[in-house]
Amino acid sequence: MSTSPSENKLAIHGGAPAIRQPLPPMYPGGMRIDAEEEASVLEALRAKRLFRYYGPNPGPSKVAELEERFAARMGATYGLAVTSGTAALICGLNGLGVGPGDEVIIPAYTWIASASAVVAVGAVPVVAEVDDSLTLDPADVEAKITPYTKAILPVHMRGLPCKMDELMTVARKHNLKVLEDSAQADGVSYKGRQVGSIGDAGAFSLQFNKILTSGEGGMLITSQQEVFERAAMFHDVIGGQRNHIPEERILPGINFRMPELLAAVALVQLGKLDALLTDMRARKRMILESLADVTRRKGVTLPALNDPEGEAGLAAIFLMPEAALARKVSEALSAEGLGSWLLYSPDATDYHVYAHWTPIMQQRTWTPNGGPWRNHPRKIEYTKDMCPRTLGLLGRAVHIDVNPEDSNSQIEEICEALEKVFEAIL
Ligand SMILES: Cc1ncc(COP(=O)(O)O)c(C=O)c1O
Repeated sequence: MSTSPSENKLAIHGGAPAIRQPLPPMYPGGMRIDAEEEASVLEALRAKRLFRYYGPNPGPSKVAELEERFAARMGATYGLAVTSGTAALICGLNGLGVGPGDEVIIPAYTWIASASAVVAVGAVPVVAEVDDSLTLDPADVEAKITPYTKAILPVHMRGLPCKMDELMTVARKHNLKVLEDSAQADGVSYKGRQVGSIGDAGAFSLQFNKILTSGEGGMLITSQQEVFERAAMFHDVIGGQRNHIPEERILPGINFRMPELLAAVALVQLGKLDALLTDMRARKRMILESLADVTRRKGVTLPALNDPEGEAGLAAIFLMPEAALARKVSEALSAEGLGSWLLYSPDATDYHVYAHWTPIMQQRTWTPNGGPWRNHPRKIEYTKDMCPRTLGLLGRAVHIDVNPEDSNSQIEEICEALEKVFEAIL
């Protein structure tokens, strides 16, 4: 793109912004809600079929259909529909038999819900570094294993698949369970396998800013009957009876059951997954190809991809040579009209990075005698600098959304904004 010097002046210095019209909001599945979701919801409403198990007009349950179709699409035998991704994690941990006295290794870069779910089942989160793929580092996981470690919780953040081969090897060597947090990774694959189906169980979120959405909601998948039965028992106070578990094996559950109206939306969304992934991946490719030259010249790198074909393509993350430059780049991009954010900023609270998880970091409990840390057999200490590599990487990382709704000309403007800012600032 040839531009005149005045056009190249950064918007932060009074130049014309590269983004001429506001970009569409980033709600991948949410922005594609249309007459299909409407019809599906209306069908359930008109039949007064709002509860999975009964109603005035019994008929097929959309929740049951969602469980079957979601599990099949994600490569697992069993699906369990719940009310949130956090609920799916909690059901998964209970399904795997994780509880008080256990430690679960989670990455330093993940939404706080991964840690909260561990605490909710009475176990202790142990935080490990991410590597240059921004996902859980198998070597640091192995270094953090103790006699109390029960499970590993890899998180496919921003649709980037973790190093599942290495993580599974560590897990099997030490006899640990693996629960994949795939909340941000619907349809992502790793070496030909769907994430969520590689470990012992996988949890997904259907909250509104996820790839597929029903506003709120979550899914747990597994191919192990026992894990499924335990999770199903937990997610419904009478899940034991409903799943024909022998009375002597029934455990007390709570209610995380998904309503039919959410399943009505989620079922239609599931059918839109492949198109969403295709659109995001194509746009990300266009952006990265267009910027290949300037990034190389300016020393900007990209996170290592554990499976370049399998990742979601929902974000472009650029690693700047240093944190101060990343901050400047992010500010200049905002002025250009391109929303971006730093993946870690010490002074801006962001629950995606462990250093900001104050309720966890300070080991706060609901009651003075509450668990899990107080009753744990070893002392756990969290410090803000306990995962320096993660903070170093995230502090240099500038993130932009790759929106499946962006038109070709909007992608061109995004590339122009990035190129202009990289040229001027780096
Ligand atoms: C990585 C990760 N794990 C877990 C969750 C929890 O999902 P939910 O908000 O549906 O409870 C989210 C999303 O918010 C997430 O991004």
